[in-house]
Amino acid sequence: MTSVSELSYSELRIDIDRLSRRLAELAAIGAIEGTEGCARLALTDEDKAGRDLVVNWMHDLGLEVTIDGIGNVVGTMAGQNAGPPVMCGSHIDTVRTGGRYDGNLGVLAGLEVVETLLTAGVTPARPLAVAFFTDEEGARFPPDMLGSLVYVGGMALEEALDITGIDGARVGAELQRIGYDGSAPLPGAAPYAFVEVHVEQGPVLEVENITIGAVESVQGISWTEVTVTGQSNHAGTTPMSLRKDPGFVATAAATFARELAMELGHPQVATVGRIEFFPNLVNVVPARATFTIDLRNTDEEVLQEAERRFATFLAATAQSEGCTIETTILARFEPVLFDPRIVDIVHGTAQSLGHSVQRMPSGAGHDAQMMARVCPTAMVFTPSVNGISHNPAEYTSPEDLEAGTNVLLHTMLTLAAE
Ligand code: GLV
Ligand code: MN
Ligand code: MN
Repeated sequence: MTSVSELSYSELRIDIDRLSRRLAELAAIGAIEGTEGCARLALTDEDKAGRDLVVNWMHDLGLEVTIDGIGNVVGTMAGQNAGPPVMCGSHIDTVRTGGRYDGNLGVLAGLEVVETLLTAGVTPARPLAVAFFTDEEGARFPPDMLGSLVYVGGMALEEALDITGIDGARVGAELQRIGYDGSAPLPGAAPYAFVEVHVEQGPVLEVENITIGAVESVQGISWTEVTVTGQSNHAGTTPMSLRKDPGFVATAAATFARELAMELGHPQVATVGRIEFFPNLVNVVPARATFTIDLRNTDEEVLQEAERRFATFLAATAQSEGCTIETTILARFEPVLFDPRIVDIVHGTAQSLGHSVQRMPSGAGHDAQMMARVCPTAMVFTPSVNGISHNPAEYTSPEDLEAGTNVLLHTMLTLAAE
């Protein structure tokens, strides 16, 4: 078989209709009625059904499929030579109100690359692999990027299996229940390189009218769960001066988080995305409030400052209200720089395919940021209409999906031929 480095392969292009069909078929699982979006929280029945579909596609394409102990699935296409594969991939779990592209694109684009090569009769010099990692979202089982974190040895398998989700379920039990507690070794073998194509999930590419983002870095992520405990009492009879109101502390902290992010300035962001009061009744001063705080920045020092100032405000507000606080770190990852050489290949590939391209950081977390610990890694971004994501309205045009997947194809071919 001829080597992929030969010029004729530069004409290869993916089939966008085939990719769009797969995206639609996967999105039908856990579809949110009346929308284009889907709900496949990690390790739920919907996640299992999505996994089964993608694994079937992997088998149909003749890939060798392995499943490890945290449920990461890797499908490998043999190369002319043995050795570590050029790997791509992402995740197929979604948030509860997710779009059809977040994560799913990176996995199905990988299958599209494989099918394009099989159809053209091309066997790359190095093996190629397509992976989907468990619980990238972390929405049910924090931290995010859990599967890829375990893959790279950043968390012991036993610790990961013991994580309790927001619904009280445990990772290990759920993996067993859906039949994805595999036996492939962990940490997983380091690939030759890793490339993840993903929708941007933000507004930059669309605003700048650019088709491809060559992602250079991922910002640091800090997730904390806070439980504030006070004195539950009658809402009508308890004078304001005598209250120990955890609801007040939680909402004051949420307001402070916004002010803090505004003061620190771009790219600092702060989000209170989950908040629960107990007993959550109109006429009861709550006994307890639990909320999450998500802080992110590309600059580790500023991120640490945001963490410190938020913690100081929270402690002072709780104390003056007579409440106590308990905090649990759900996720903490420092900013990650991708491999400049792989970023250059992505950038050059996009240019050679005639697409506008710009280097940029990622605001969202991605499996690629974990893979960057063990192999040269970079990402390809495609535009998100109106910058909307983690929302069923998430949308990327077929033309942009096609462009991103062709950049993935040729980036992988370049790496496989090295
Ligand atoms: C994970 O996808 C995140 O960025 O929250
Ligand atoms: Mn994602
Ligand atoms: Mn996501």
